[in-house]
Amino acid sequence: MKHVFIAGNWKSNKTIAESIAWVAQLKEQCASLQVKWDAVTVVVCVPYTVLLTVKEELRAASLPVAVAAQDVSEFGEGAYTGEVTGKMIKEAADWVVIGHSERRKYFGETDEILKKKTEKARSAGLKVIYCVPDGLAPVPDGVEVVAYEPVWAIGTGKTDSPQNANAVVSTIKSKTRASIVMYGGSVTPENVATFVDKPAIDGVLPGGASLIAETYAHLIAAAVGNP
Ligand code: PGA
Repeated sequence: MKHVFIAGNWKSNKTIAESIAWVAQLKEQCASLQVKWDAVTVVVCVPYTVLLTVKEELRAASLPVAVAAQDVSEFGEGAYTGEVTGKMIKEAADWVVIGHSERRKYFGETDEILKKKTEKARSAGLKVIYCVPDGLAPVPDGVEVVAYEPVWAIGTGKTDSPQNANAVVSTIKSKTRASIVMYGGSVTPENVATFVDKPAIDGVLPGGASLIAETYAHLIAAAVGNP
């Protein structure tokens, strides 16, 4: 069975108390589902305010889940009020998501800005999960993990077909040096296997389905063939 990569994206959700409760529930649910941890790499992409809490709670729970930030500053440290640098993130996380369609849409992040963010993240030692809406969008050099996320499938309950997602993922793989390319957009415990069963698709990036720990645990289990 192939190794699957799963990156759950909380988006702008969860307080510290809610994050602590989520980790406790994830531990309980994954234990009862007997998740095959050696078959999966699991990441959870959380708000800056809970990065360290989630990292510490996961470690205390002995859960092999990595933490990611959902954005990074295009600048280094200095007079950039409100920005969070790669160096700051690296204290709490090994990963960062760059170029999510919501960042592009609501915050005007262009390919050029996203390239700068990728350079800053990489120079801070962060691994990048870079999101693209199709097979045509540029992917900056050095990106290890790409997520293909058609905009119309995000948060809508509509997915791309596994066949088409597989074709777009193959295109992305042929154009970039990314070793892992995922599909994202309305992935659920019920449909995850249809995507990860496809030969080119290495994993998934669920949003809504990562918010409730029980659902996320079922998604992880279903992706690696647990009953
Ligand atoms: P969704 O979000 O699973 O809720 O559609 C996907 C995403 O965050 O990209």
